[in-house]
Amino acid sequence: MHCVRKVTDDLYWVGANDHRLALFENIHPIPKGVSYNAYLLLDEQTALFDTIDWSACRQLLENIQYLLNGKPLDVLVINHMEPDHGASIEEILLRYPNVKVISTEKSFMLMRQFGFDIDGHELIEVQEGDTYCFGKHTITFVAAPMVHWPEAMVTFDTTSGVLFSADAFGSFIALDGKLFADEVNFDRDWIDEARRYYTNIVGKYGPHVQFLLKKAAGILDQIKFICPLHGPVWRSDLGYLIDKYQHWSTYEPEEKAVMIVYASMYGNTEAAAQALAAKLAERGITNTVLYDVSNTHVSYLISETFRVSHIVLASVTYNLGIYPVMHNYLADMKALNLQNRTFAIVENGSWACKSGDLMQKFLDEEMKCMTVLNERLSLASSLGSDKEDELNALADAIVDNMNEA
Ligand code: FEO
Repeated sequence: MHCVRKVTDDLYWVGANDHRLALFENIHPIPKGVSYNAYLLLDEQTALFDTIDWSACRQLLENIQYLLNGKPLDVLVINHMEPDHGASIEEILLRYPNVKVISTEKSFMLMRQFGFDIDGHELIEVQEGDTYCFGKHTITFVAAPMVHWPEAMVTFDTTSGVLFSADAFGSFIALDGKLFADEVNFDRDWIDEARRYYTNIVGKYGPHVQFLLKKAAGILDQIKFICPLHGPVWRSDLGYLIDKYQHWSTYEPEEKAVMIVYASMYGNTEAAAQALAAKLAERGITNTVLYDVSNTHVSYLISETFRVSHIVLASVTYNLGIYPVMHNYLADMKALNLQNRTFAIVENGSWACKSGDLMQKFLDEEMKCMTVLNERLSLASSLGSDKEDELNALADAIVDNMNEA
């Protein structure tokens, strides 16, 4: 049975939702699922914009067959060929052997690398600024390298103002019937997963996203719809999402807020994290969140780190080093190019306490534009009352820094 939604008079969402996949890219948990979006344009020539993951291919095929209603599929535009979108290309070519495939040179190269049997079909290689007319609709192609793979492009329908934005402006969470961002409470129910999607999947490529946003700024008044490859379609309040992307891609915090991430073996470092949060609240700082690094998937930590301005790292010393899960979090932060944050350090060690110095060294030497406050809370096994002054000094330093910024 088909399951489609109308985007405009002649454009339809023909994608599918996935609640079965536990880990996106086999690494990021997606407890609320994900959608794979593809779009079908019914013009004089019919055109499919992208395909979907192999696991949901049957739904895509039923959707297309229903809407084409016996007409041929003339064109397949591939904006992004990563297998969560491109894995069904071959099946489309088998079912619609006369379809012309439009994509970038790199995309065709990667399709061959992945073993897609595309040769023997009509392949149209396009570059930035090229156009294609389906009859009523004309599209133009815009290169979007590293948003999120090197072959990516976005396509703009100059007739209807639809931007097919590939991975940009996407989100985790299955659509489950809703299609448009204004059909859900995005700011309440979706933004955290949209941020987690962006920061973990595309976060490293902020400068490339900036480059794309600058290109989009030139035609912003013409963009009426943003159709990403995951998550809802945007037809109103585009400025809300673009503002989020502006923050994320420039590595600027969204909010003045404190995130305390603790690595605790027996609860003593956790107790210090709690005591610090209470001291901050006494000083009026209540926009705080605490995370146990050992039982929070790093993708959530990364997402929150992109959101907040101040991060407290509280870690035990382990094998004379940083607690491994905390180290993994720091390494992920570095891999994703995160910068422009202020850190405070809480260290613990029953002997040879090393974690504080090592975390400071990591932030100073391995990362860009990170500030570490001079004040540090240093524990020997547990937080004793003799540490109250140090705790107060750390809380004061965080508050002062937040007020300065
Ligand atoms: Fe959703 Fe980069 O693929």
